Amino acid sequence: MPILEVSGIGKRYGGIVAVEDVSFKVKRGIATGLIGPNGAGKTTVFDMLTGMQRADRGSIRFEGQTITNLASHKISRLGIGRTFQSVRVFGNLSVLENLNIAEANSAAPARHGATDRVHRALALVEMEEHAGKPAGALSYGQRKLVELAMVLVQEPRLIMLDEPVAGVNPGLVERLSDILRRLIDSGISLLLVEHNIRFVTGLCDHIVVLAAARMLADGTPEEIMRNPDVLEAFLGSDH
Ligand SMILES: Nc1ncnc2c1ncn2[C@@H]1O[C@H](COP(=O)(O)OP(=O)(O)OP(=O)(O)O)[C@@H](O)[C@H]1O
Ligand SMILES: [Mg+2]
Repeated sequence: MPILEVSGIGKRYGGIVAVEDVSFKVKRGIATGLIGPNGAGKTTVFDMLTGMQRADRGSIRFEGQTITNLASHKISRLGIGRTFQSVRVFGNLSVLENLNIAEANSAAPARHGATDRVHRALALVEMEEHAGKPAGALSYGQRKLVELAMVLVQEPRLIMLDEPVAGVNPGLVERLSDILRRLIDSGISLLLVEHNIRFVTGLCDHIVVLAAARMLADGTPEEIMRNPDVLEAFLGSDH
């Protein structure tokens, strides 16, 4: 059974069709990529999957349970975590304080083991040495790692990452790739929006392509990379 099943979802903002009749499945234990030119509707799909925007139509099932248009905190507590295209951490609080807040908001905040959970998450993103620093003093890429740790503290089974390496320096891109691979190996499923195609094809076993609000293709990285419609959609938008 797929961990996530998206059937015919759609979303309009006034006269703008942001997402139209999009359907795909996310398999358990692998990374799935969601790619497409700017404005294709990728973030809007994430917003609907996480309950941050209402879907006008269609249905979303997580582990067999319908979650369409549930409140976002309920979806998060069912086991879906998410990072944002523009990083969201509390800059004036320390890394540790950021993680403690995320832990307290998790489905089952630990009365005793909270510190363990927080330190495990910090270790997973290799940020232990920065625990006491204000998050605002870190580089952009490091803040993204803190945001990922805030998600990990909640022990989700599916993590959706919206452009995790956009604006991140090349060294950190490599590191993040290793970190995400370890998460996959530990059994976490990933859904990844990213414009860095090498990063996507390096991590993902399955790729879904959106263009102008609609599904264009889905398949293995090899199938996607030799699909003429996909090539045209990307070249057409960038040149
Ligand atoms: N809250 C909103 N209100 C109005 N229009 C929106 C809103 N969010 C997105 N849109 C519009 O919906 C369309 C899809 O946007 P979306 O942000 O989902 O694209 P995207 O694929 O994530 O693009 P990018 O790669 O640039 O992040 C765009 O035309 C965008 O302007
Ligand atoms: Mg986006």
